[in-house]
Amino acid sequence: MAATAFIILAAGIGSRMASDQPKVLHRAGGRSLLGHVLSAVKALDPAEVCVVVGPEMDAVANEAQSIVPNARTVVQTERNGTAHAANMAKDELSDFDGTIVVMFGDGPLITSETLSELVSVVNGDADMALLGFEAADPHGYGRFIIENGSLVAIREEKDASAVEREITLCNSGVTATSANILWPLLARVGNDNAQGEYYLTDLVELAAGDGLKVAHTVCSEDEVQGVNSRAQLAQIEARLQDRYRARAMAGGATLIAPETVFLSHDTEIGRDVMIEPNVVALGGVRIGDGAVVRAFSHLEGAEIGPGCIVGPYARLRPGTRLAKGAKVGNFVEIKNAQLEQGSKVNHLTYIGDARIGEGANIGAGTITCNYDGFNKHFTDIGKNAFVGSNSALVAPVKIGDGAFVGSGSVVTRDVPEDALALARGRQEERPGWAARFRALQ
Ligand code: UD1
Ligand code: MG
Repeated sequence: MAATAFIILAAGIGSRMASDQPKVLHRAGGRSLLGHVLSAVKALDPAEVCVVVGPEMDAVANEAQSIVPNARTVVQTERNGTAHAANMAKDELSDFDGTIVVMFGDGPLITSETLSELVSVVNGDADMALLGFEAADPHGYGRFIIENGSLVAIREEKDASAVEREITLCNSGVTATSANILWPLLARVGNDNAQGEYYLTDLVELAAGDGLKVAHTVCSEDEVQGVNSRAQLAQIEARLQDRYRARAMAGGATLIAPETVFLSHDTEIGRDVMIEPNVVALGGVRIGDGAVVRAFSHLEGAEIGPGCIVGPYARLRPGTRLAKGAKVGNFVEIKNAQLEQGSKVNHLTYIGDARIGEGANIGAGTITCNYDGFNKHFTDIGKNAFVGSNSALVAPVKIGDGAFVGSGSVVTRDVPEDALALARGRQEERPGWAARFRALQ
């Protein structure tokens, strides 16, 4: 692909979102709307990316640069329309003379394949190309006016005649042309229309009037769905989840009830993985081959090794690393901890800031007391150690390889290798006490 630059328009605040944050920072599938758009763009290895943001949108600029580190950002201080917004990028891209794609930052479902197809049309014999779609309900969209097979104008809803409003082939907003066509034409766009705005869509009529060849490609409506409300954000989330579930299943995972499993854009799932119903994977989760994630488990920033069994009702928080064959059972929370091969934490336990050695067994109700109100401390549990139920391990503390901790212990000192630590009240018996007690009632 010849050198391509992308201008992403993201100055809209999204007033119908009823939110304090800019629209493009709202999240779906575990990342911002802008993040989805930029990752589709990034896959095409663009020469330049310029994001047009509104005033006081430093957070949007930061988000853009977190995904495309050399992305440029410019501020559009007044919202005068899509052509006005695109023109804001002119100074930033003044040295660029390849193909420029102008698109919106709030359409997270667009794929790099669709963008690449549009760009190839402009890199072929077309001077300009627009991405269109057949709208189930075209209301609100700009309509493609086609004469003798070629695109001659785009008519915005508010400017369209009754006949034009019947047209269902609509503008997605993605426009590709070359730099030497874009900038002169943008300078000629006026604002004599129903909304008093500078419309990017006017480029088509200007180009066609100059005798340039204006082409279009068509994608599915789903791919260009934008977000203007929380309800549409939820629709986008549903579409993304369908994609992520399909990807997991295509990769060899069984999802018993896929519609109840929620994944993220970066969830990695191996072959022959089994995911039971009602599992949530937030960002940064990797699940190795043959692992089983049982129902109602909640995962974030966790790496689950091959053959592990997790849940039901497990909570794996960021920094959890389960080596091959480790087991984490019900009502167990793990944070920033490494479980080495074959270790088991099966019931009602909190493990935070710890290492659990190979083959170690952590009994029900064990708590690593990792926090003293100011700092976090580490618990190190050796290979094949056995921690009895209902023990509190007060960090920093080390349980040696092969050591035993008696049930109900509060361990405050290191336990040597192969030792038994008992740190609990000693049991007393008083023979006949219960019978005497009953007799007194
Ligand atoms: C636009 C298109 C319309 C298309 C529709 C697809 C124009 C004139 N119309 O209409 O043909 O069918 O999108 O969804 O282009 N923006 C700015 N600064 C501005 C104005 C807009 O950054 O001054 C950004 C918005 O944040 C938004 C995008 O451009 O992301 C589109 O603007 P919007 O007002 O939603 O345009 P539509 O009326 O939906
Ligand atoms: Mg819109």
